[in-house]
Amino acid sequence: MKASLLKMPSFLLLILVIMSEWNIIEAYFLPTKTSNRMQFLKASTENKGEVVVPKTDQATAKKNALPGKSWLRSRAIGVGAFAGQNIMKNSAFETLVDTNDEWISKRTGIRSRHVIEPTSSLRDIAAKSAIQALESAGVNAKDIDLVIVATSSPDDLFGDAASVASAIGASKAAAFDITAACSGFVFGMVTASQFLHTGAYKKCLVIGADALTRFLDWNDRGTCILFGDGAGAVVMESTESDADAGILGFALHSDGERYCNLQLRFKSEFGELANEPKSVVDRGNYGKMGMNGPEVYKFAVNEVPEVINEALSNAGLKSSDVDWLLLHQANIRIMEHASQVLGIPMSRVLRNIEEYGNTSAGSIPLALAQAVKEGKVKKGDIIAVAGFGAGLSWASAIIRWG
Ligand SMILES: CC(C)(COP(=O)(O)OP(=O)(O)OC[C@H]1O[C@@H](n2cnc3c(N)ncnc32)[C@H](O)[C@@H]1OP(=O)(O)O)[C@@H](O)C(=O)NCCC(=O)NCCS
Repeated sequence: MKASLLKMPSFLLLILVIMSEWNIIEAYFLPTKTSNRMQFLKASTENKGEVVVPKTDQATAKKNALPGKSWLRSRAIGVGAFAGQNIMKNSAFETLVDTNDEWISKRTGIRSRHVIEPTSSLRDIAAKSAIQALESAGVNAKDIDLVIVATSSPDDLFGDAASVASAIGASKAAAFDITAACSGFVFGMVTASQFLHTGAYKKCLVIGADALTRFLDWNDRGTCILFGDGAGAVVMESTESDADAGILGFALHSDGERYCNLQLRFKSEFGELANEPKSVVDRGNYGKMGMNGPEVYKFAVNEVPEVINEALSNAGLKSSDVDWLLLHQANIRIMEHASQVLGIPMSRVLRNIEEYGNTSAGSIPLALAQAVKEGKVKKGDIIAVAGFGAGLSWASAIIRWG
């Protein structure tokens, strides 16, 4: 075979190499790859008149994927959301700080945010979103093996996941919290997927929930206008084979060197308990959120497109394979920048920042729930998700929905 190839005229050999590089031989001439050809033809007929970018077929994507960081046998099968019930419009800030509706909506894209009621709790909104997710997946809470709550504003520092699991009737589930700020939901999904991929668990519930308005400095116009309270949840299940894999690639990152740009610290207050014997204890409390807005903005516009490309590459996919871009809802300008860099039009960017503002770990599932409910996101759609925030932390997952 090799000898006959050597005897072939070099230009013929070159054509063969190009055809094989572009998967033309595989897609059109090899009988085993008919499904690739069908996929391409189906895409052509569905996009009548439009320029069709052939999507990477499953076999090629799998071949190009990075083992361990891709094609996890885990998929999201239901989603739910619940936000704070008090709606606060931009105009409400005009009496609090030196700002106005025009500045806020132009510089951030936010027009209102939902704030948790004093009679409600983080556990409450998390549980409500979880119940919706279970209903949308058609799964009984008793069949959930693991509940993860991604939050930075728990009702109890020992964790809220166990209480949420009890509240929804997930009586046999193990439960724990994850803290990775606004990246928490993506970290949570990837963590749950490890258990599902190995088959250790069959069904997991991942909840992203935050009530950061509890920790805002209402005199700081650079932060208080940005945040709202909300929760979202997905039910994930293990799949039989790679063909059904729902987490096609991921990338997680943290950088403590840049921690100071966004923090909510414990403020130490030393107090003497007794003189004999002398004992000094720390009786401090958590302070208010502090942020260097322009630095966080720069961090987001630099890292978000990069981490999505990394996750896509781990999945063996390209940005042209993405049906929907779903970013943490922090600032519309960050979304516009990522859309431009990745070449994914704004019409394909899922967003609800106008109504909810930045709900931290809740923002991605909150926007996803709305998009699924509105019928935008359909079974089989590829969604490039990215979260970013305090830590600093940033993460992306490439999800095949449903
Ligand atoms: C916070 C953010 C909206 C500020 O927008 P910006 O365009 O960067 O604005 P700057 O901070 O550079 O400030 C520009 C001016 O607007 C002022 N300003 C800031 N907030 C304002 C407000 N709410 N209303 C009116 N003016 C405001 C500043 O004081 C500054 O005034 P000066 O020029 O007189 O000093 C923006 O930096 C941002 O979105 N950063 C990322 C935040 C984020 O995503 N955080 C969460 C990550 S999870």
